[in-house]
Amino acid sequence: MDVVPVALGARTYEVRIGQGLLARAGAEIAPLLRRKRVAVVTDAHVAALHWPALQAALAAEGITSEALVLPAGEATKGWAQFSRTVEWLLDQKVERRDVVVALGGGVIGDLVGFAAAVLRRGVRFVQIPTSLLAQVDSSVGGKTGINTAQGKNLVGAFHQPSLVLADIGVLDSLPPRDFLSGYGEVVKYGLLGDSAFFDWLERNGPALTAGDKAARQYAVARSVQMKAGIVERDETEEGERALLNLGHTFCHALESATEYDGARLLHGEGVAIGCALAFELSQRLGLCAQEAPSRVRTHLRDMGMKVDLHDIPGDLPGAETLLDLMAQDKKVVDGALRFILARGIGDAFVTADVPRDAVLTLLRDALETRA
Ligand SMILES: NC(=O)c1ccc[n+]([C@@H]2O[C@H](COP(=O)([O-])OP(=O)(O)OC[C@H]3O[C@@H](n4cnc5c(N)ncnc54)[C@H](O)[C@@H]3O)[C@@H](O)[C@H]2O)c1
Repeated sequence: MDVVPVALGARTYEVRIGQGLLARAGAEIAPLLRRKRVAVVTDAHVAALHWPALQAALAAEGITSEALVLPAGEATKGWAQFSRTVEWLLDQKVERRDVVVALGGGVIGDLVGFAAAVLRRGVRFVQIPTSLLAQVDSSVGGKTGINTAQGKNLVGAFHQPSLVLADIGVLDSLPPRDFLSGYGEVVKYGLLGDSAFFDWLERNGPALTAGDKAARQYAVARSVQMKAGIVERDETEEGERALLNLGHTFCHALESATEYDGARLLHGEGVAIGCALAFELSQRLGLCAQEAPSRVRTHLRDMGMKVDLHDIPGDLPGAETLLDLMAQDKKVVDGALRFILARGIGDAFVTADVPRDAVLTLLRDALETRA
């Protein structure tokens, strides 16, 4: 097992990564509990596959548990299921000193983390991330929240979990498309700050998707180490943490343009396309060599991932509309769009200094190659 601490003073916690953690979850969680009872929130897919194992693991330590099972999918991350969750937790009589457990992907982790943040002005919660995306990214760092009609993740809170249990084994049941979507966030770490990790992914990506446990363990642990380091240095995104948004300004516009319809675009797929666009933009602005965007695209293609706008089924709005959607992003400061660009693979930086026309032309060209 790898243990990655997230050192945040009084809010320090561990991310434990390994095989079989779900079966040991009761013993892992028990030291946090003041009474042997937890409320678990999960989604329908994950409940069918993994809730019995978690419930048995909790029961083995004498911990009773109840679960709320929400519908699976991004549409769950909104006001309706959020208020349902908060009210269910209140009905369960969850108290200030209790622990709420989020069992699922990033949708469940974000929504349940936010519910825990506001319930009785904040209760502790444990993340048991079951998707690759959630294990390498969303379960770590304390960003919680929901989507609204105005855009993605616009309502939320910083609320750190008390413990994260990432069981590599549960990834076996993840549908291949969801696994690859999570891989978009894994690649992001190499691209933003660790070129040696990107080299490793070029060599080991296929084994990782094929199910190689050692490769999965390493990729998750390395990703979590990178995220933990960044979060420790900049918990509330005053600076460096923004690097984690590489590809995300494009991604959020595309997710909004496809109405969060997972059949068309998953979050990590949008991140992959966004990373390819960010590297293309960097090259056009003379910041990095042509070789960099080509390498990014080649690796994503080799992995069977979406790379271009024409990989998204259905119609997309024009470049102006996409740019307007980007302006709705949280990363707007004083009306100026901030971008994460790169000087090369593993060397990203934040800038507000991107001419609007350069982005418009990039998007027009990207849309044109769709035709
Ligand atoms: N808080 C953060 O820092 C942060 C970072 C990145 C992404 N996110 C958010 O994460 C969300 C995306 O997360 P996601 O890709 O995990 O989506 P998700 O939670 O919808 O999970 C994807 C699909 O996989 C299923 N699933 C999950 N684990 C499974 C398993 N082990 N076996 C079988 N099926 C399983 C889910 O039911 C769902 O259908 C987005 O809302 C995004 O905004 C948050």
